[in-house]
Amino acid sequence: MALKITVIGTGYLGATHAAAMAELGFEVLGLDAVPEKIEMLARGRVPMYEPGLEELLGKHVAGLPGSTGRLRFTTSWEEVGEFGDVHFICVNTPQKHGEYACDMSYVEAAVASLAPVLHRPALVVGKSTVPVGSAARLTRTLTELAPAGTGVELAWNPEFLREGFAVQDTLRPDRIVVGVEGEKGEKVLREVYAKPIGEGTPFVVTDYPTAELVKTAANSFLATKISFINAMAEVCEAADGDVVKLAEAIGHDERIGKKFLRAGIGFGGGCLPKDIRAFMARAGELGADQALTFLREVDSINMRRRGHMVELARETVGGGFLGRRVAVLGATFKPDSDDVRDSPALNVAGQIHLQGGQVTVYDPKGMENARRLFPTLTYAESALEACRGAHVVLHLTEWAEFRELSPAALASVVAEANILDGRNALDAAAWRTAGWTFRAMGRPQA
Ligand code: UGA
Repeated sequence: MALKITVIGTGYLGATHAAAMAELGFEVLGLDAVPEKIEMLARGRVPMYEPGLEELLGKHVAGLPGSTGRLRFTTSWEEVGEFGDVHFICVNTPQKHGEYACDMSYVEAAVASLAPVLHRPALVVGKSTVPVGSAARLTRTLTELAPAGTGVELAWNPEFLREGFAVQDTLRPDRIVVGVEGEKGEKVLREVYAKPIGEGTPFVVTDYPTAELVKTAANSFLATKISFINAMAEVCEAADGDVVKLAEAIGHDERIGKKFLRAGIGFGGGCLPKDIRAFMARAGELGADQALTFLREVDSINMRRRGHMVELARETVGGGFLGRRVAVLGATFKPDSDDVRDSPALNVAGQIHLQGGQVTVYDPKGMENARRLFPTLTYAESALEACRGAHVVLHLTEWAEFRELSPAALASVVAEANILDGRNALDAAAWRTAGWTFRAMGRPQA
């Protein structure tokens, strides 16, 4: 009989995973503690912006016209326990308030609610990003609390999806990593992922701690790569070099590679910043803090970028923000997402606002979330409106829409034609030809 799958937690990770499992042909039941989220998903609507996800839900959510009906949602743990052979835990693990460590309360709560309804043998699969050592602890809780006892096994299967590419990353991952203890874990997960494995996706089997570490190691490496190129941007600025050319040139070396070498205002979002901090905190607990002290530097290089952008803007408007209008293009932490968690763009906008600048923000998809987080900023309905009367324009999230703006049209509405490119994504020559003073991070001033 085909495996029945449940997905616990229906945020970015869970909603995408649930839809992807239905696409792979399984019967899927998604659970979330927030009834409004479940209601939306049951109507085929996604509570966030993620390209392609709504289409995938539309194909599978039961009750929608023409759907396969393989995907349903619930808030009932009893139903989940009864339905599933495999239970994926996809809840959030944010940073703890006032600490570097990871907040495990949602994972703990999910396991505490799930275990008592597991009356028959099942595989529980953790996908959330957790501190190393969590799986070993959670497996004890599961077998203690589940009526099926040792018939319940735990596997750790970290997720590597990127926001904006979540659907494709889930359906065609570049690797599948599973940390297992018993035999069931590997066998069942090979069945779940038979399609991508058949298409050539590498399947890496490890023990629990290695699987947990793979995830934090991968995100730490990516964060380090970004901070490396941003450190080079600082040196380029001091030495009149060009970090974009430098990245291109070193990227030709296959051992280095071109990706994740875009210098600018640095990384943000719900993953990289909190993951490197949680990793440092956990290494400290394990007595291995020295191994990760470099991540502190990675974090400070990254945070310095935001301050540096504020300074460039201040310099550009004549040394102080009072009475100066600042247009901010972009609020999300990266394009093709509506996520503003720890967004460098909003952080810069907020700092300038607090220093007396009149900041107007426009973002193609992130306005609602940005407004909720920073209600005191002014928001405009278009890039052009945001720029009206501005003394400086800051390009802080590299949406395609901003690359297509007409520098001439924008020049006609601003007070002063100054633009700062915080993402090194605009065509400097085109803006300069249209009369703009164009400055980018880590690049020579023309
Ligand atoms: C990241 C990882 O890339 C995923 O593999 C991982 O699964 C995910 O975290 C997670 O842990 O769930 P994501 O947060 O969606 O994915 O975003 P990234 O594409 O990694 O970008 C992160 C930040 O780095 C963004 O603010 C982006 O603007 C910035 N960035 C990226 C740069 O500043 N320069 C670059 O060259 C690349």
